[in-house]
Amino acid sequence: MLSFWWRPLGFALGLAFFSLLLSSGRPPGTGWALFSAGLLVYLIYHLRQLRKLTEWLAADDRPALSADGLWGDALYRLEKLLRSRKGAQQKAAADLEQMLEATRNLPDGVVILDDNNRIQWLNQAAERLMGLSPNRDLGQFVLYLIRHSRFADWLLTEDYAHPLSIDSPVSRERALSLQQIPLPRAQKMLLARDITEIARVEAMRRDFVANVSHELRTPITVIVGFLEAFDDMPNPDPAEFRKHIPLMREQSDRIRRLVDDLLTLARLENEPDTKDEAVDVPAMARRLAEEAGAMSQGKHHVGLELKCGARLIGNSQELYGALANLVSNAVRYTPAGGHIDLRWAPGENNGMVFSVTDTGEGIEAQHIPRLTERFYRVDRGRSRATGGTGLGLAIVKHILQRHQARLRIDSIVGKGSTFSAVFPAERVIPDKTADVPAAAPSVPA
Ligand SMILES: Nc1ncnc2c1ncn2[C@@H]1O[C@H](COP(=O)(O)OP(=O)(O)OP(=O)(O)O)[C@@H](O)[C@H]1O
Ligand SMILES: [Mg+2]
Repeated sequence: MLSFWWRPLGFALGLAFFSLLLSSGRPPGTGWALFSAGLLVYLIYHLRQLRKLTEWLAADDRPALSADGLWGDALYRLEKLLRSRKGAQQKAAADLEQMLEATRNLPDGVVILDDNNRIQWLNQAAERLMGLSPNRDLGQFVLYLIRHSRFADWLLTEDYAHPLSIDSPVSRERALSLQQIPLPRAQKMLLARDITEIARVEAMRRDFVANVSHELRTPITVIVGFLEAFDDMPNPDPAEFRKHIPLMREQSDRIRRLVDDLLTLARLENEPDTKDEAVDVPAMARRLAEEAGAMSQGKHHVGLELKCGARLIGNSQELYGALANLVSNAVRYTPAGGHIDLRWAPGENNGMVFSVTDTGEGIEAQHIPRLTERFYRVDRGRSRATGGTGLGLAIVKHILQRHQARLRIDSIVGKGSTFSAVFPAERVIPDKTADVPAAAPSVPA
């Protein structure tokens, strides 16, 4: 700072010295006149420098300035300051652009509203989820575009604490969760999240709990009803009590089956991988055919066709459970005298197919996609009467998925159905033998 004063002081002293020197032998006052003239020149020089600087600062493109002395120092510092500020501005602009780019590509919809709820900016997801358009809707009042009375109330009361769930303006099938976030200068950000999947899972969970409770309530009511009735009798008759035991046992079996099926589903969901081994499907098919015969008690014709001896890589217990369910369904939903045919044969792309064909009542097309939903039954009464829980095909689907296989259902009402487990080539252990003899009991008349 001290160095700043050396130059003007040096100049003033030099000027005073020369004025004194030049005024010697001249009329009095000459020295002061010379000193003042020198100061005036000094002042004009600085004023010119100041004007140049002002013009330079006002210009858009600033050419490099050069000056000596005090102005040289000042310009050097000023240029350095401007350069660093420009760098900071460029960095801030780049950061902002990066932020906007990230926001543009966010999976959630983002809409920036001004203090009047007019749209300032929106990203691609807002176009997709809320049906807004950056070309058409910028500057528009958002309440004219999203016409929900609940949305208007929520936006106008500036309820920042609670999100709002509405149907998407694009499709009633999609659900959105909206959140408003305050921004500086009374602007706000509207965030839209697609919660269709979450809402679907939540509805499924609610249905599931309601279904389980409903399924458990009936057998429990029956058992508790009997127990209470006997409890109320002053002298209960053991013979009378025994008469009701079969029904109570049947109902307890139903509860047990339901709990077993629920536990099986939970286990399948919790253990993502199967414990693989070589599964002898032809042997399993023979056993299933025998069991179908036993279950049918001679009421159906049971056939077995083994096109080859190919085996599978998979979990034998799980696969047995899945295929047994298909077989037991065929027996239960086919009237007496019908045919039930088990078949193990090559399928497409070197895969294998285990199918169970029956000549039962068949299933109407609209039910088919829903059969693997938990507790879905075409005829609830019929399923219950035959001891069904409605979880069988849900378990089958799960097990097949774990084996990268799928369930195919073909059915014609009045003619019958074919349920096929279609396994991919990766799961197949090929066997050279074709047409393995089906050494299984078949065709009880
Ligand atoms: N072979 C079939 N023929 C006609 N309808 C069938 C057949 N297999 C299944 N269904 C229908 O699909 C529904 C669902 O079958 P699923 O195996 O999931 O349940 P369930 O047999 O009722 O009970 P569970 O198998 O748990 O004892 C059945 O209730 C029935 O209406
Ligand atoms: Mg079943």
